[in-house]
Amino acid sequence: MEQTGTRSLTRAVADETGTAALARALAPHLAPGDALLLDGALAAGKTAFVRALAAALGSRDSVTSPTYTIANIYETPGPEILHVDAYRLKDAREFYHLGLEDYLDRAICVIEWGTRVEGMIDAPLRLHFAFGAEGESAREITLSAEAPRWAPVLEALR
Ligand SMILES: Nc1ncnc2c1ncn2[C@@H]1O[C@H](COP(=O)(O)OP(=O)(O)OP(=O)(O)O)[C@@H](O)[C@H]1O
Ligand SMILES: [Mg+2]
Repeated sequence: MEQTGTRSLTRAVADETGTAALARALAPHLAPGDALLLDGALAAGKTAFVRALAAALGSRDSVTSPTYTIANIYETPGPEILHVDAYRLKDAREFYHLGLEDYLDRAICVIEWGTRVEGMIDAPLRLHFAFGAEGESAREITLSAEAPRWAPVLEALR
């Protein structure tokens, strides 16, 4: 029987090493055309996660917050990574005008403040970053998705 509905899992991490470990666990499951929408508080670790993910995918490019440039591209031995920061975008239409469709098809796309462009993205995996209670560097990272694409991935990360 086909399962429907949102699947999610929450990882409590103690520090940035834990955030990076989650990125490394997710990396081998990613394919061109996948989209990750990252959200959560300021300085919760979204860019830190992207940095670890790019490294795990074999990129040697330096990952910086694309707040002012809106989008960065990182090369890897496999698919490119499109790193978007939607913080300064007013709405989804502004995202559309960036003309990133080609990248959305062929790159692994990671969007910080992703809820701002949600309607533009097919079958996203959402990652929500929250501050944890157990000290300054503790975080709770919740991965969730409705699309069947992510069901086996969430299962594998459990
Ligand atoms: N568990 C953790 N995971 C990620 N970053 C952590 C963690 N603990 C501490 N940090 C620190 O918190 C900061 C996170 O900054 P980062 O730029 O990644 O946040 P962000 O969510 O992208 O912020 P913004 O909303 O401004 O884009 C970094 O200085 C990082 O070293
Ligand atoms: Mg950031």
